[in-house]
Amino acid sequence: MLSLSNKQVILGITGGIAAYKAAELCRLLMKAGADVRVVMTPSALEFITPLTFQALSGNRVYTDLLDEEAEAAMGHIELARWADLILVAPASANFIARLAQGRADDLLSTLCLATPATIAVAPAMNQGMWNNASTQDNVSLLLDKGIQVFGPDSGEQACGDIGPGRMLEPEDIAREAAKLFDTGTLAGVNVTITAGPTREAIDPVRYISNHSSGKMGYALARAAMEAGAKVILISGPVALEPPPRVKLVSVESARQMLDACQVVPGDIFISVAAVADYRPETTATEKIKKNDKTMTLNLVKNPDILASISLSEKRPFCVGFAAETENLEDFAKKKLVDKKLDLIFANNAAQTFNSESALATAYWPGGEQEFPRSSKAVLTRDMIALIAARYRAAAKPAKKRSRKASKQ
Ligand code: C5P
Repeated sequence: MLSLSNKQVILGITGGIAAYKAAELCRLLMKAGADVRVVMTPSALEFITPLTFQALSGNRVYTDLLDEEAEAAMGHIELARWADLILVAPASANFIARLAQGRADDLLSTLCLATPATIAVAPAMNQGMWNNASTQDNVSLLLDKGIQVFGPDSGEQACGDIGPGRMLEPEDIAREAAKLFDTGTLAGVNVTITAGPTREAIDPVRYISNHSSGKMGYALARAAMEAGAKVILISGPVALEPPPRVKLVSVESARQMLDACQVVPGDIFISVAAVADYRPETTATEKIKKNDKTMTLNLVKNPDILASISLSEKRPFCVGFAAETENLEDFAKKKLVDKKLDLIFANNAAQTFNSESALATAYWPGGEQEFPRSSKAVLTRDMIALIAARYRAAAKPAKKRSRKASKQ
């Protein structure tokens, strides 16, 4: 399935007769779920008007590097950072030469130089220009720099020549762009993730909590978003910026976290939060004075958020985490059964809490998988791939059953 769900794409248009096909490409990128901003070079403006792309993309079109108004709204560096992909279609021989040289003499080439995003070009030119040794050298330079080159096609050209240099059709370019992200795994799926610690108030200035940094939950939220999911991140107090395009719901206590989770459990519920198991029976309304030599706090058990979501009637696909200091496998498997989970990731608390890297083992009914130590960004991408695969496997029998039921 063609999906650019959650992706932010700059569509760059350079001067060539194929520029009119970029209008259809813009429409197809948006249909695939991308948020599209169009940037046109001065020569592109000779072939097609910005108004066409403004109407199609629903956003203002950028044409000028030194445009005060545009810079005030979203500066060119900000725009370069905003993009997940810069797709230049059509890419003229001149633009390819400028890109190969790393020039920054107009807005589009400047964005290409400044961006951390993937860059792809769809060449469009006369067959003589395409076959020219200079163009071929420039295309080799682009490939060496990791820039993607889509096409060109071969066939009849606008000038009457026949040969290579025709721009790929918009459908093919959109398909190639979607393939770059391979986001099919969780496209359109609603994922809710809990992260971080909870704080259980003792009095207005003191609380019970734990060492969870939230890094694992936040990295999973980013990985799920990148896989095309619509992500809600329900987070306890942490010192982290939420990933882009993720809806953040901030909570403090376990009971607040439970309330938030019950409103939006999603299709997949991933419980990474280190929820405090107990809370003070009462919370003092005023700061407790240190008058006595000893002090006793009466604690009561907090609700088990994951278990209550998992055991609810309309339960989503439920994923738990078990951070243990001993008997990792036994404790994790017991939680899988007791909380009726679809999948659990077990890791050593000492090796995971507050760390940049982690390792884990996943268990599910009838299977397990080891995840070697790697950065949380890499590990969580692999975890999301497994979650997506198990989610699909669980969804299939249910669909088959409902088809059978409807035939009866
Ligand atoms: O604390 P425990 O080891 O039981 O945690 C296992 C899983 O249950 C974790 O995914 C954690 O987020 C979840 N949990 C919860 N509510 C609690 C305790 C744990 O959702 N009160």
